[in-house]
Amino acid sequence: MLQCNMTQFSYGIDALGVAVPSAYVPLEDLALARGVPPLKYTEGLGTSLMAVAGPDEDTVTLAARAAADAFERGGVSAADIGLCIVGTETAVDHSKPVSSFVQGLLGLPANCRIFETKHACYGGTAGLMTALDWLASGSARGKKALVICSDIARYGLGSPGEPTQGAGSVALVIGEAPRLVAIDMATVGTHSNHVYDFWRPLESKDAFVDGHYSVTCYLDAFRGAHAEHRRLAGTDRPDRPSALLYHVPYGKMAHKAHRLWCELEGLDAVESFERLVAPGLVIPSRIGNVYTGSLYLALASLLACSPESLDGRDVSFFSYGSGSCAERFRGRVTPGAQRGFASLLARLDDRRKLTVAEYEAMFRSRDEPRLASMSEASASGRARFLGVDAGKRVYG
Ligand code: HMG
Repeated sequence: MLQCNMTQFSYGIDALGVAVPSAYVPLEDLALARGVPPLKYTEGLGTSLMAVAGPDEDTVTLAARAAADAFERGGVSAADIGLCIVGTETAVDHSKPVSSFVQGLLGLPANCRIFETKHACYGGTAGLMTALDWLASGSARGKKALVICSDIARYGLGSPGEPTQGAGSVALVIGEAPRLVAIDMATVGTHSNHVYDFWRPLESKDAFVDGHYSVTCYLDAFRGAHAEHRRLAGTDRPDRPSALLYHVPYGKMAHKAHRLWCELEGLDAVESFERLVAPGLVIPSRIGNVYTGSLYLALASLLACSPESLDGRDVSFFSYGSGSCAERFRGRVTPGAQRGFASLLARLDDRRKLTVAEYEAMFRSRDEPRLASMSEASASGRARFLGVDAGKRVYG
């Protein structure tokens, strides 16, 4: 039986910001170019638009932009941050963490602890759990944590994984008495297992994946993390959140996970999907897989698109990282949390539509060495990747 304790709903997500690349390709167009029926991508996978990162956008610039968005939305300043963790599986350096570049771009204080976490798509949740423990331990001493999930998903042109690419970043400010979602740290159900479903050897820019096996691994991990979460929450209590958020490599995967949850709980999947899951898939279906940020992009989507008030309601989270590590946990939405999130949807309309030929050219150009040209420095104030100078990445 669950014992109430200090850490149950004391800490959580205080502010959230999102950054997506400025261009996208419609999956309908990609399907036609690959000789595949468009419905396979739009309905079979459940994704309509795929975000494409440009030559001046990388994991660092997306991370910095998402953090700046979170700061602006939450009225948080760089000086408030005592811990900055970037969860990513598409880092830009084997040694120097993305959080170090972000510190420079955002002006985070020198007494801030900064590092990077990696475990495929679970890396962001690893950062979130570490930040919550840091707060609960008393080490924060009045400061907040900044957890950024940032990635550019890449499988290779013409591969089965190609329509499940995407790119983007979600930044979470984590603090006490959070203004968006308080997390129940006492019932986080963890499940890990050494499997080879998805990986990226050091010498490769593209991910390797055993696609159908990865779907099985995801569902096995859901089963394990769900059972552990239920054990900690008390199996005598029904599991009835007001919304369920899943890791979304593509919308159909969330569909499959939800079917499994309904089977385990003896509920009707068709009726509950539209009500409990669909609002969390609206934004991901227009961006694609953002790896570490995927679950938190679903949270942003829920806050932006839920037709109902979520004030005081419980929301379920399922994080999955191939390889694998998974966690199922619950959060409680703070009254007023949905305010201002609808603007995220409008922001997605402000992107450039690419032809498939332009997308392919951008994909290939990411492999070419780019020498820094300071004359390209941004006039918009947005962080931009300018290239490499003597082995050092240059941003402006
Ligand atoms: P595939 O083999 O080309 O596609 O690749 P498929 O034949 O399995 O078809 C996909 C769906 O489209 C099926 O639906 C078809 O029936 C349907 P389902 O049976 O699964 O419900 N379909 C159609 N629907 C309508 N009209 C049509 C039509 N034709 C077919 N005409 C696969 C699919 C996902 C395997 C591939 O895209 C892939 O390898 N993707 C990458 C791996 C991935 O995303 N795995 C997900 C689980 S692992 C995970 O989430 C972790 C990850 O994010 C990485 C990390 O942790 O870092 C990936």
